[in-house]
Amino acid sequence: SRSIRLAVIPGDGIGQEVVAQGLKVLGAVLPQDVKLETKEYDLGARRWHATGETLPDAELESLKEHDAILLGAIGDPSVPSGILERGLLLKLRFAFDHYVNLRPSKLFPNTATPLAGRPEIDFVVVREGTEGPYTGNGGSLRTGTPHEVATEVSLNTAYGVERVVRDAYERADARPRKKLTLVHKNNVLVHAGHMWKKIFDAVGEEYPEVTTDYLHVDAATIFFVTQPERFDVIVTDNLFGDILTDLAAAVTGGIGLAASGNINPTGAFPSMFEPVHGSAPDIAGTGKADPTATVLSTALLLRHLGYDAEAARIEEAVAADLAARDETPRTTGEIGDALATRVAG
Ligand code: IPM
Ligand code: MN
Repeated sequence: SRSIRLAVIPGDGIGQEVVAQGLKVLGAVLPQDVKLETKEYDLGARRWHATGETLPDAELESLKEHDAILLGAIGDPSVPSGILERGLLLKLRFAFDHYVNLRPSKLFPNTATPLAGRPEIDFVVVREGTEGPYTGNGGSLRTGTPHEVATEVSLNTAYGVERVVRDAYERADARPRKKLTLVHKNNVLVHAGHMWKKIFDAVGEEYPEVTTDYLHVDAATIFFVTQPERFDVIVTDNLFGDILTDLAAAVTGGIGLAASGNINPTGAFPSMFEPVHGSAPDIAGTGKADPTATVLSTALLLRHLGYDAEAARIEEAVAADLAARDETPRTTGEIGDALATRVAG
């Protein structure tokens, strides 16, 4: 019989609440013969306060023994900014070589968005996940003086850019519209930007069916709002992708619906699935968090592991649940229950 060894990192704030619903829906959608074995990891703000640890090596090793990781959210106002982000979330993405940060955007029915009524919005951002300005390459000089200097160097390797660009072409080639847009800022960031464009054009020779386009990131933000239908697959660097995907979430139904996968396409390490949103400490514990982004992340997880039919069932359940939503407020758990019922039924 089949099994899924799933590592679970609920993390901070609403992470706990939304992950519980993700697991509920996973349990409901999987066929009887698939055994879901979960192992929960106590990582995040609580752990750091208790022990000073963010992600000890032993846990990193143990996480490797899984088919995938489900993560809720990381970050808490009681922990200085950067400690958990760098020491836990980014450490996982880097250690497990999650070079494809996959962030789909679809306009679901009945969602509160300035773009309501434009169902043709269906694109996916392939955000590079291991390089760019996220590597911690930089430093400070003369700290605390009026002459302080800080650098944050964006690291881009031909190897790193080519592999993510290639992945994006593969995804574009597999979609009906077969369109790939590179987003960068090569009119200013001439070193990295020109390398990205050169590699984008070179790899494109191997995908004659894929139509390509290039946009500067500032222009791309305009089109995200005024003409989002023009996008199919977008490939971009780590920081541009971070910003663009929050914008994408906001214009296509809100951050409560945006799912993501931190993917290592080679399978050398487990891939990790998480909602795009953060730990939302302001609503933690109130039952107000929408677990839909986490539930949609479990669909990405299942698809990554080859459970395509189950992934589709989750996405259909979400679409149906959103279509049926009215003004009646529902708790995190009630939305999870409704989705679990739909995928089982
Ligand atoms: C995200 C988050 C993270 C990022 C932070 C928390 C490090 O904003 O997943 O988009 O910048 O990648
Ligand atoms: Mn972000």
